[in-house]
Amino acid sequence: MYIGIDAGTSGIKAVLVDEDQTVLATRTEALTSQSPHAGWSEQDPEAWWCALLAAIDALRDSHPRAVAAVRGIGLSGQQHGAVLLDGGGRVLRPCILWNDVRASAECAVFEQRFPDSRTVTGNIAMPGFTAPKLLWVARHEPEIFRATRHVLLPKAWLRYRLTGEMIEEMSDASGTLWLDVGRRQWSEAALAATGLPLAAMPALCEGTDRAGVLRRELVERWGMDAPPVLAGGAGDNAAGAVGLGAVRPGDAFVSLGTSGVVWATTDRFRPGPRAAIHAFCHAVPGMWHQMGVTLSAASSLAWWASVVGRSEAELLAELPEVIARPSGLLFLPYLSGERTPHNDAGIRGAFIGLERSTSRAQMTQAVLEGVAFSLRDALDGLAGAGSVLEQADVIGGGSRSATWLGILASVMGIRLHRLAHGEQGGAFGAARLARLAVTGEDVAAVCLPPERVETIAPDDALQAAYGTVLPRYRALYPALADFAS
Ligand code: XUL
Repeated sequence: MYIGIDAGTSGIKAVLVDEDQTVLATRTEALTSQSPHAGWSEQDPEAWWCALLAAIDALRDSHPRAVAAVRGIGLSGQQHGAVLLDGGGRVLRPCILWNDVRASAECAVFEQRFPDSRTVTGNIAMPGFTAPKLLWVARHEPEIFRATRHVLLPKAWLRYRLTGEMIEEMSDASGTLWLDVGRRQWSEAALAATGLPLAAMPALCEGTDRAGVLRRELVERWGMDAPPVLAGGAGDNAAGAVGLGAVRPGDAFVSLGTSGVVWATTDRFRPGPRAAIHAFCHAVPGMWHQMGVTLSAASSLAWWASVVGRSEAELLAELPEVIARPSGLLFLPYLSGERTPHNDAGIRGAFIGLERSTSRAQMTQAVLEGVAFSLRDALDGLAGAGSVLEQADVIGGGSRSATWLGILASVMGIRLHRLAHGEQGGAFGAARLARLAVTGEDVAAVCLPPERVETIAPDDALQAAYGTVLPRYRALYPALADFAS
């Protein structure tokens, strides 16, 4: 029996998985983010901890015998966030999250101080990543920076609470800008550029390694027969990949979650910073991945739903299941800036082409299309970095909408496979990593792909129609960039 935990931005999800890899129970505890100033996004780590305890308490209440038999726990979570701890392990300030863009100016400072940054870390310094956040704290909250002895990513902090140990694995460490991603070790030069010593970093391991043992009082709280081992785990995207069996070179998926991701597994470290592609370690040993990230994917639809006072499901129900033609409007989903391909924290979104007859349904369709165009940009960026995709699995909350998948396939021009259990995501992958850490089985034998329940191919006419819209979508970015600055 295994527990997988995904510490996501909107909630902590825990799944209970048996030896046949059947999910016996799932529990999600919701979280909120705070934005005390424009562009800021923070959460209190203590809220994650309370949610995690509540989620596993609920699993114990509903499945006490299965929880008693848990042998391993895997952690997955939102990447990049900085949890700052003092010498006594106390949290010094709220965690600055992956979608917080306050540290834009510090990105240039980091790259100036560490000119090899893009080659060593495989990534452009972006405000969402961890290192620039620490430069921001050093500049704006110097007393907190001076008190900082340890910096942990969200799931490493949860591991610290669960086991008392400070350990991080490669896929999440890749999103800090402090990892030498090709060598899979901390870069002292990158740390020095942020004014941090190596000692501020947790020990490194692979996602499939054993990384701590559950503390005695928690073993008792959850009535477990023996203390479970924690696996290294994975950043949420890498954990999603493990859950989908995307562990071999060329495996690919598109995630329509809060943020949108186009992922390709690679057998080498292959940086592609020109189009703001991320090159990270995979959570399984000896593998890497490339990834294009759209910051506002399902969250664009959630935003639009909140503006018009309808639920996302109500808005989607106003659209046909199969779209006949483009909406005629353009929506640019840059609600909190954009990573791939623009690396522009200051850019903001837009609706273009509104007229008196424009309906809410048309605007909803434009939102779905705008996210799809943005993911097409990520797809083309990956191709430029050496990963040409012809098909991909599709996961995340947005993948429940047949309408959205039809649009996405035609805009991206690739076949998309909808999966049985496609929304299980990172928590299920984390449970698989727990199993690998406990049993030492072969990665490929455990990380089997789920059943593909449907393949959505591009529609020729719609693909051609979107082909004429794409250059117009792309032409708008420079105009908006002028507006934003
Ligand atoms: C990846 C990224 C997001 C977060 C979302 O680089 O920032 O996917 O991990 O939780």
